[in-house]
Amino acid sequence: MRGSDTEVLDDPVSRSLRGHHAHLARRLGGAARYVPDVATFCAVSADPDAGEWADLARLLGPGELADLFSSPAVPPSDWEPVFLLDGRQMIWSGSAGDDLPGTEPGTDLVELGPDSVPEMLDLVARTRPGPFQPRTHELGTYLGVREHGTLVAMAGERLRPPGWTEISAVCTAPEARGRGHAARLVGALAARILARDERPFLHVAEANTAAIALYERLGFSTRTRVTFRGFRTP
Ligand SMILES: CC(C)(COP(=O)(O)OP(=O)(O)OC[C@H]1O[C@@H](n2cnc3c(N)ncnc32)[C@H](O)[C@@H]1OP(=O)(O)O)[C@@H](O)C(=O)NCCC(=O)NCCS
Repeated sequence: MRGSDTEVLDDPVSRSLRGHHAHLARRLGGAARYVPDVATFCAVSADPDAGEWADLARLLGPGELADLFSSPAVPPSDWEPVFLLDGRQMIWSGSAGDDLPGTEPGTDLVELGPDSVPEMLDLVARTRPGPFQPRTHELGTYLGVREHGTLVAMAGERLRPPGWTEISAVCTAPEARGRGHAARLVGALAARILARDERPFLHVAEANTAAIALYERLGFSTRTRVTFRGFRTP
C-alpha cells in the first residue's frame, strides 16, 4: 500500500495544494492557498521568512482569514490570532476494508454533487462539523443519506497528501443521530479510498469525544495531536 509514508501527514494542506489539488491552488513564492469557496486553508513552507509571509498576505488580501490548519508556523506579530483549537489527527489502522459498514449491498448512500450544495450547506450550518464552503465538494467525493428525500447525513473527501485521503464534513442532523448514518458514510468513504490503494485519515477536535469514539470503533487510531490556528492578515 502506497500510503505507508506518514511524514506527508505532518503538512497535509501544503502537500495537497502542491499535488492532487494543484488545480484548486493559488500560489505566490512558497505561499499557497485554496481558491476561495473551496477551502479556507493556506500554507507556507516549513521555515517561512518575512518575504513568504508577505506573499501569503498578498495571496489572501488585507484583513482576511489565514487558516493555517495544523501548521505550527508562527506568523509575524501584526497577524491577529483568530482561533486556536486543540485536535487530533487519526489514521485508519485496520487491516482490510471488507467489513466496514456502508459497503454492504443495498446501502442507501447517494453521491452529492453541485445540485446538492444548498442542502449540504444547510446541514453543515445545523451540525457544525468544521469548515465547509459552496465549492468544498470539488475536493473529492461527497456521500449523503436521505430520509424521505431530505439530506440528513453526509461525509466527504478533503485533503489529499500523496497516498492519503482525508475524510471530512462528517455530520448527521440531530433528529437522525444514533442510526449508524455516520458510521456507514465513513465506512463507505474509507472503502473507496482503500480500493484506490490510499489510506484514510481525518482530523477531529479534541473535545469531540463522541466523534473520536465513533472513529476508533471504525478502525482509526490517533497518530498525533494537532492545534488548528487561524490569524487575520494585517
Ligand atoms: C458525530 C456524528 C457525526 C455522529 O453521527 P451519527 O449518525 O449519530 O453516528 P452513528 O449513528 O453512526 O454512530 C454514533 C455512535 O454514537 C451514538 N450516538 C451518537 N449520537 C447520538 C445521539 N444523538 N443519540 C443517540 N446516540 C448517539 C450511537 O449510538 C453510536 O454509538 P454505537 O455505535 O456505539 O452504538 C454526529 O453526532 C454529528 O453530526 N455531530 C456534529 C458534527 C460533528 O461533530 N462531526 C464530526 C466532525 S470530526
